[in-house]
Amino acid sequence: MKKLEKRSWAEPFKIKVVEPIKMTSKEHRLEAVKEAGYNTFLLKSEDVYIDLLTDSGTNAMSDYQWAGMMIGDEAYAGSKNFYYLWDNVKKFYGMPYFVPTHQGRAAEHMVSQILIKKGDYVPGNMYFTTTRLHQELAGATFVDVIIDEAHDPGDPHPFKGNVDVNKLDKLVQEVGADKIPYVCIAGPVNMAGGQPFSMANLKEVKSYCDTKGIDLWFDATRAVENAYFIKTREEGYADKTITEILFEICSYFEGLWVSAKKDLMVNIGGIFATKNKDVFEQARNLVVVYEGLHTYGGLAGRDMEAMARGMEEMVQYDNVRARIGQVEYCGNRLEEFGIPFVKPIGGHAIFLDAKAFLDHLPQDQFPAQTLAAEIYIDSGVRGMERGIVSAGRDPKTGDHRYPKLELVRLTFPRRVYTQAHIDVTVESIASVYENRKNIKGLKMVYEPKYLRFFQGRFDRL
Ligand code: F0G
Repeated sequence: MKKLEKRSWAEPFKIKVVEPIKMTSKEHRLEAVKEAGYNTFLLKSEDVYIDLLTDSGTNAMSDYQWAGMMIGDEAYAGSKNFYYLWDNVKKFYGMPYFVPTHQGRAAEHMVSQILIKKGDYVPGNMYFTTTRLHQELAGATFVDVIIDEAHDPGDPHPFKGNVDVNKLDKLVQEVGADKIPYVCIAGPVNMAGGQPFSMANLKEVKSYCDTKGIDLWFDATRAVENAYFIKTREEGYADKTITEILFEICSYFEGLWVSAKKDLMVNIGGIFATKNKDVFEQARNLVVVYEGLHTYGGLAGRDMEAMARGMEEMVQYDNVRARIGQVEYCGNRLEEFGIPFVKPIGGHAIFLDAKAFLDHLPQDQFPAQTLAAEIYIDSGVRGMERGIVSAGRDPKTGDHRYPKLELVRLTFPRRVYTQAHIDVTVESIASVYENRKNIKGLKMVYEPKYLRFFQGRFDRL
């Protein structure tokens, strides 16, 4: 008889509505992926069985959020949903000023345009694709100041999202504090594998920046997950609530932006928020040029209501634990098969280490792009490339950037898939792993100018 060794957790919700998904044959998938130029972004979603492309806008809303959609106040100006959302931004992120945007990158655009001058430098804890592009388009050079451990997929550091203050100081010495409009901090760090920063590190960065007169700005897109990791990994936080930890994190920042399509468990929405009244006034003016009036920012009233309600749900401990617990479950099962992926297991996704997985392919044969296509062909599970294609080209030299991390991301939408879906996914990857030596690389046949990973096309070598 088996002895009871551990007690399991289960999701704090049950399923009320289901959406059928299509099962496809391998022949169909071979054809579909070829037509998509071996780029999983170009697949039709109806050809996908389990969609782990992203956790962005793909979440299942609760009945409470759906009920909120019915009370959308679709007034052009001054919608009541806007004021409710603003109250919640103050309550959960602690920022007095708020401008809604249709999604995260619209807020990144405003932050970059308002704060950056041509020739500036923006240090950050690893780049994110859209964040860095908006910084570059505003005339800045992004400088990575994350700790070295973040670039090593096998390093077990519990806070791989931490900033290396020595790297930051080196940049300040080189270019001068007046060339640094802000330090850009994200948590958990998407491209590092969903790795969090610690509160201790954040405080250290804050006190360093205070001595230099540099502000901190926060990409709070998945901040709730960072708060969960602080609660479960950092001394002194076990008894604090997610709400308290999130509030403390935000207190060290001058302002922040959020892609609400993640933590807030909605399908669309973004947030720009700050303590700085002058920056707020500029954002409120800029938003009407690109998004819509400052009381809707490209959103319908009902979307703002769903965001406000999602915010109340995102800080519930059981929700976050189940969300991260599912990612952990997937990681632990992959571990049984010896499949290489980024450790520790991250917040929103598993990042397969494509360099180790397909160690016979050089990086310019796009191992991660190849692996994502092969997993799709095997089972219809869709992940995404996060390696040399996502890293793009150096704007100065025009050469590929060769990132140390060459990863395939399997991202978990919130409240969408069951444990059985995860089992099917793991077994598909294990099957591709057994057959890995027969896999050939890809060549790029079409490359768009911006964010090439979205629309680039490839062919088999
Ligand atoms: N910041 C982070 C950390 C993100 O992950 C994203 C989006 C954005 C900003 C931009 O927000 O998409 O609402 O405009 N990440 C998605 C992803 C696309 O799949 O990781 P957006």
